[in-house]
Amino acid sequence: MQEPHLRQDRIPQHVAIIMDGNGRWAESRGLDRNDGHREGLESVRSVVRGAREIGIQTLTLYAFSMENWNRPKAEVTALMGLLDHYLEVEIDEVMENGIRVRAIGRLDRLPPGTRSAVEGAIEKTRDNRSMDLVFALSYGGRTEIVDAARRLLRDAELGEVDPEGLDEKTFASYLYAPDVRDPDLLIRTGAESRVSNFLLWQIAYTEICTTDLMWPDFRKPHLVNAILDFQTRERRYGLTSAQVGGRRGGLGSDS
Ligand code: FPP
Repeated sequence: MQEPHLRQDRIPQHVAIIMDGNGRWAESRGLDRNDGHREGLESVRSVVRGAREIGIQTLTLYAFSMENWNRPKAEVTALMGLLDHYLEVEIDEVMENGIRVRAIGRLDRLPPGTRSAVEGAIEKTRDNRSMDLVFALSYGGRTEIVDAARRLLRDAELGEVDPEGLDEKTFASYLYAPDVRDPDLLIRTGAESRVSNFLLWQIAYTEICTTDLMWPDFRKPHLVNAILDFQTRERRYGLTSAQVGGRRGGLGSDS
């Protein structure tokens, strides 16, 4: 199903989302923060379906940051439970829609049950090609860069990498998901304009769209609106407007 008002030649190939505002959504209604996370899961369902319908190739969701480990234990447990629930309940629809589940982050820190649910979904969906759904879990952008540097240094010690010849392309090949293109569009809900340690390397040229909506209120129509906004942007990659030919919402080869 295509969105009639979206330009089909300018659909962002990779959309990344910082899903913020679950707690405030709940607190403003006198509810428990975990009720906000539960409602946030409905937004995840809507946006995953919507992204697939729109024709987005990769959707990355910031589901749990490294910093989130410091939240109260009950909230961490509730968030892990929601992830388990999503993977269990949605896996059939995910398969039917040809979605490949992937994950980036320090997965070794996840509780064993959650980790095996994530790994099971990755394994089950590995041959799907319609859309990649990437969960950033136990993820930090700086941690990802440090992890990449550690592996790179090991390879340098083994003589497999020449430090003098190191370039951005080689460095990027050590990131968690090197085959995933950089996001074209980053959406942040929750009325904040921070990057919050998300995909620090990958968002160098990403268009950013923020909204005052709290994540539980963000559904497919809002995703469409963010893409409409994206389609008005001129991506210049450091060049002049004339050099890029006034291209709006273009995808560029290095993005
Ligand atoms: C931010 O809201 C959101 C999170 C910490 C996690 C995102 C989790 C979900 C959307 C629910 C489950 C998702 C999956 C993929 C199973 P916040 O608590 O920081 O909100 P606040 O800033 O208002 O406190």
